[in-house]
Amino acid sequence: MASTLQVDRVSSALGAEVRGIELGSVNAESTQEIERLLWEHQVLFFPNQNLSNEEHVAFGQQFGELQGHPHLENDQEDQRLFILKASRGGVADEWHSDLSFLPSPALYSILQMIKCPDLGGDTLWANLYLAFEELSPPLRELCEGLSALHNAEPHGRPETMCIHPMVRVHPETGRKVLFVNEHFTRRIVELSVGESAHLLAYLYRWISRPRFHVRYRWQPGTLAMWDNRCTQHSVLNDFEGERIIKRVTVMGDQPSGLKPKWPPYARPVGPSDTSRHDRMLEGFLQGSNTLSED
Ligand SMILES: [Fe+2]
Repeated sequence: MASTLQVDRVSSALGAEVRGIELGSVNAESTQEIERLLWEHQVLFFPNQNLSNEEHVAFGQQFGELQGHPHLENDQEDQRLFILKASRGGVADEWHSDLSFLPSPALYSILQMIKCPDLGGDTLWANLYLAFEELSPPLRELCEGLSALHNAEPHGRPETMCIHPMVRVHPETGRKVLFVNEHFTRRIVELSVGESAHLLAYLYRWISRPRFHVRYRWQPGTLAMWDNRCTQHSVLNDFEGERIIKRVTVMGDQPSGLKPKWPPYARPVGPSDTSRHDRMLEGFLQGSNTLSED
């Protein structure tokens, strides 16, 4: 099986194009090989697939349970398949891991390009192993002892919240990952609002460094599959013309990392802006206990 696949890396940070396989008719052996390649390269691109909706769903199901988008409208008969048409705006042009505001965020996203815009509309992915490993040792140690609150505010659902370790451990590779993203992460639980804002701003800028990235130019019929546990992605919202994609999402497990070294830092007193953000965290902590224990 492995010998029939042609695998070409497309950047030094992450990503590979894979040829020599028809994803509409994979078996258990080829599914395992694809997953092994995905753990190695983090995002895979399969040109010239042109899967039907049924084939796309069936391919996704090889890797686990599928879930439709929890907040965005979907007019498909099969809610597990999400189709997005955009001619300007309406795409996720901030860095993010899919559905990180859920207790068990998306595991794999599997996206096929249906119609490319006339110009632009590339997608970028970032390698979150490298983003963690290239921090200085003191900052790595600090981040490992922290957790962060994520919510679905970009979808107009700020009440959908979750706390995850800031550094998660990938269950298959055992490597550590910097797990905060500018789209869904709101604040660091154990720091004050101001400290959290500055550290997150630094980390978002750090993750956006091109040395951690692959930038991919799409062709119609290309299917991309990525591991949300160790990558973030962002669509370049620069395109001219219509861009149509379809996607299925394989659901994941609860992120695991170290337990936070400190208690939450929330002081819900007074009418200030600071206390408003602290009240959000305090309210969430009183209402749930979703932080991973290991
Ligand atoms: Fe996304």
